[in-house]
Amino acid sequence: MDDQPARVPDDLYQEGRAHDGPLADRLLRLRNMTPDAARLISTLIRARRATSVLEIGTSNGYSAIWFADALRDTGGRLTTVDTEAARVTAALANLERAGVRGYADVRHADGAETLAGTPDASVDLVVLDAERPAYAGYWPHLRRVLKPYGILAVDNVVSHRDQVAAFRELLASAAEFAVDLHEVGDGVLTGVRVR
Ligand SMILES: C[S@@+](CC[C@H](N)C(=O)[O-])C[C@H]1O[C@@H](n2cnc3c(N)ncnc32)[C@H](O)[C@@H]1O
Repeated sequence: MDDQPARVPDDLYQEGRAHDGPLADRLLRLRNMTPDAARLISTLIRARRATSVLEIGTSNGYSAIWFADALRDTGGRLTTVDTEAARVTAALANLERAGVRGYADVRHADGAETLAGTPDASVDLVVLDAERPAYAGYWPHLRRVLKPYGILAVDNVVSHRDQVAAFRELLASAAEFAVDLHEVGDGVLTGVRVR
């Protein structure tokens, strides 16, 4: 990122922390991924030269700014979905503020429905950062929509180990995925579709 957009996610992250701090109800929190996790996934986008990225769980667009910035470099586009309309509105404004609005489609939509409507072998990288118990149900579509050497990135696998256990078992038993756990932020699991 050049200097000006770089300040936007930094400010947004601090705003998110300040917003979430006093809130007891988890669902009211913005729950932005850590800067290290966003940076890792952005690097994967660039290294893969990904042009089609799907994020499930937009919140206020913090991670989407990082991904859209990487997709500006690759000539690609982010689709990011959230079930909360107010968050979609906030994300659009924040992407605009960061100068990367043109590289993202922000949709008020459910992750499972979005995956079900996504064509086979059409996505370079999928980011899961929503309600973790639902991920196991996403699995048949995740397998279907990723391109060869496509990448799955799942946040919070260390911080919420129990909630992703069933999903991790599915991924580990799939011979076509090379799986790695990255001790970054709250723990990022990656699966690369190698065959
Ligand atoms: C952890 S936050 C996402 C944080 C965001 N990726 C970031 O780092 O800035 C999870 C978001 O997932 C959304 N969400 C929950 N269930 C969803 C679903 N089934 N489909 C899409 N979004 C969902 C919530 O409304 C919430 O905004």
